[in-house]
Amino acid sequence: MENFIYHNPTRIYFGKGQITQLSDAIAKNRKVLLIYGGGSIKQNGVYAQVTKALSQHQIIEFSGIEPNPEYETCLKAAKLIQQEKIDFVLAVGGGSVIDATKFIVAAAKFKGDPWDILAKRADITEALPFGCVLTLPATGSEMNSGSVISRRALNKKLAFLHEKVYPVFSVLDPETTYTLPARQVANGIVDAFVHVMEKYLTFPQNAPLQDRFAEGILSTLIEEGQKVLTDPNNYDVRANIMWAATLALNTLISQGVQSDWATHMIGHELTAFYGLDHAQTLAIILPSIMEYKKDKKKAKLIQYAERVWQVDKNVSDDVKIKLAIDKTRAFFETMGNPTKISAYQLSRDKFATIINSLKDNGLTTLGEHEDITPQDSLKILEVCFPFCFSI
Ligand code: NZQ
Ligand code: ZN
Repeated sequence: MENFIYHNPTRIYFGKGQITQLSDAIAKNRKVLLIYGGGSIKQNGVYAQVTKALSQHQIIEFSGIEPNPEYETCLKAAKLIQQEKIDFVLAVGGGSVIDATKFIVAAAKFKGDPWDILAKRADITEALPFGCVLTLPATGSEMNSGSVISRRALNKKLAFLHEKVYPVFSVLDPETTYTLPARQVANGIVDAFVHVMEKYLTFPQNAPLQDRFAEGILSTLIEEGQKVLTDPNNYDVRANIMWAATLALNTLISQGVQSDWATHMIGHELTAFYGLDHAQTLAIILPSIMEYKKDKKKAKLIQYAERVWQVDKNVSDDVKIKLAIDKTRAFFETMGNPTKISAYQLSRDKFATIINSLKDNGLTTLGEHEDITPQDSLKILEVCFPFCFSI
């Protein structure tokens, strides 16, 4: 295991009715900017719960954060913070609202062009404090320091990470997730699953505890994911999915081990150029990477097959690997996320542009061994189009 320093400062309020904690979690003398998305929180009662809990606070609102939050929209919110002398921000929504808020709290204090935070990973010396009320379990953004922002005019979807943008707290009430459309439930489970796989499906790193944490989260997502399809109003199922998604990317399981972020990096390009949902891209790319890198990932693929999918230990290694990939595809498809690009009636014609964009974004050495070149990324895209269970 490699050396690491781990510090996660986000306080979690988990469970039914925890939105009421906002009244004490935010000091009364704070001027609060409430940031949300397209209005789902007004339809499902979350907005009413939040404003009731903050009835003693001075609140200003900013709505309209898009899925895959848009840079230009974030800049408007950052300007509002400056004009209104806001000193605390509350994000209420899914990963997009939380990611947008992370960028906004940094951009509001940034000296210079805020685009540099994303394009040049410019250092952030100051950011406003913020908290979250999560309504969509998926990204882990509620307990990590990452954010992904899109700039549609430039076909860019770029991430930044900074310790100054950890949420001060996050409220996770599973009851807020009952109103999620099936597509978003599926997206959330696939996203969380892939977050774990990117830490886990690398090579043996003498980190059995991280492996077993990862296998526990994967198994939980498989079991609870299947239950939520038929029993969507089951509180315990929703609660288990929510906590699993947070742990999938609060970086606990990635301490001391090398990760493979290739699925996300190629996936972000598919969102930028084809407009697919984040998790739709991951369901396509991960199985292709499993196929394409099956020799280098062999040991972990076998471990994954045996421990997560209970594949018979007596079958050959090749069969274990094939079953591991087939079962992963089948799980994503059962959840409602196709594993082929052609399922979306999209053609190959943007592959060359996507590869150029990866180069332009400096993503030329992906994977745990930094050996996935743009040429490999092109081959990975070719594996998922047309669809095939094994190559
Ligand atoms: O905008 P509203 O009206 O709130 O509707 C949203 C949105 O349309 C809706 N929704 C959210 N909660 C709901 C609900 N509808 C009904 N009931 C509820 N309780 O769901 C739609 C999708 O929301 P969004 O926030 O976009 O989804 P998600 O949480 O999957 O976030 C995706 C974004 O997060 C980024 C992705 O790239 C993408 O931009 N990611 C962020 C990461 C991070 N910060 O660590 C890591 C991830 O890998 C990911 O890249
Ligand atoms: Zn993700």
